[in-house]
Amino acid sequence: MTDNSPESSEGSNEATLARSQARSDKVEADLATHPGKWRILTGDRPTGKLHIGHYFGSLANRVRLQNLGVESFLVIADYQVIYDRDGVGDIQENVLSGVADYLAIGIDPARTTIFTHSALPALNQLLLPFLSLVTDAELRRNPTVKDELATSQRPMSGLMLTFPVHQAADILFCKANLVPVGKDQLPHIEQTRVIARRFDERYGRVDPEHPVFPEPEALLSATPHVLGLDGTKMSKSRGNTIEIGMTADQTAKLIKKAKTDAERHISYDPDSRPEVSNLVLLTALCEGSDPLTVAEEIGDGGSGTLKKRLTASMNDYFAPIRARRAEVAADEGYLRSVLRDGNERAGAVADQTLDEVRRAMKMVY
Ligand code: TRP
Repeated sequence: MTDNSPESSEGSNEATLARSQARSDKVEADLATHPGKWRILTGDRPTGKLHIGHYFGSLANRVRLQNLGVESFLVIADYQVIYDRDGVGDIQENVLSGVADYLAIGIDPARTTIFTHSALPALNQLLLPFLSLVTDAELRRNPTVKDELATSQRPMSGLMLTFPVHQAADILFCKANLVPVGKDQLPHIEQTRVIARRFDERYGRVDPEHPVFPEPEALLSATPHVLGLDGTKMSKSRGNTIEIGMTADQTAKLIKKAKTDAERHISYDPDSRPEVSNLVLLTALCEGSDPLTVAEEIGDGGSGTLKKRLTASMNDYFAPIRARRAEVAADEGYLRSVLRDGNERAGAVADQTLDEVRRAMKMVY
């Protein structure tokens, strides 16, 4: 088909997504049998406190992958926070709080290298050759850049325009070949693949048999999509989150105020009853069961019963995580030492990669 009406381009987006999913499913099957073939990079922007949406949507999956034996890097993307604000704000606090969350949920700093952008000069230097490999038009049509621009209500900063290239440096500095992501991050993985390919075409290799950079795959694991307590996207700015580090009491109060609907009978129907279904889903996730069963069990018990059950289950599930979190968070020296170690390890990897880049580009003097 040659027509390029909106419908057909949407069709082709769906086809692209289906292809990405199929590739991802193949990788997922391979991970359990050949964990040593893969190196994962994941990351978070330290814009706020990590919450249960992050936990069920991505963090728990990282712990699973780490525990399969896949070598993992985790970037706390502090330079990715400053593209649309005037100062540094609460970045430091969020970074330390994030490290406490990671340790509490089972990220093992011996197996997962946790690091920050700002501590790795060699990673940041990769940005320069990488910027030479992309065009202004490519960056401007990146849908995530467009969204960020629209929601930030500020003029486009140079860093906002180029953050996907910086993100490519996050992935490629350690030659990660696998990036667990949600659909919204797929354009960045595609941009990263383009950068890896163009680097090879334009700047060449050190080892004639292998390009300097691999083209990473996206891993689209089927993680549940949890909403906020009002049935809309869970996000700090909407005030509808439950943070991983909250107390049992805070959790109970928030669930008590959660939005439901007028129908007494509890069912699981995410399309027509998003708020109630989200509470059912959360209950199922915390209990390790499935939402249809939970809804059926509650039935005519109504939203009061649902909320009581969710509160108990969530507080049970997170009790050991929160206990461990309280322990590590009380020891800022320990949190900082985890970051220092991670930064040192990641820094050594970045130095080695930059060295190779200089050799490929014949800029060794
Ligand atoms: N952009 C990601 C987010 O907003 C965070 C991130 C930074 C990231 N660097 C990355 C994700 C590299 C994957 C790979 O969540």
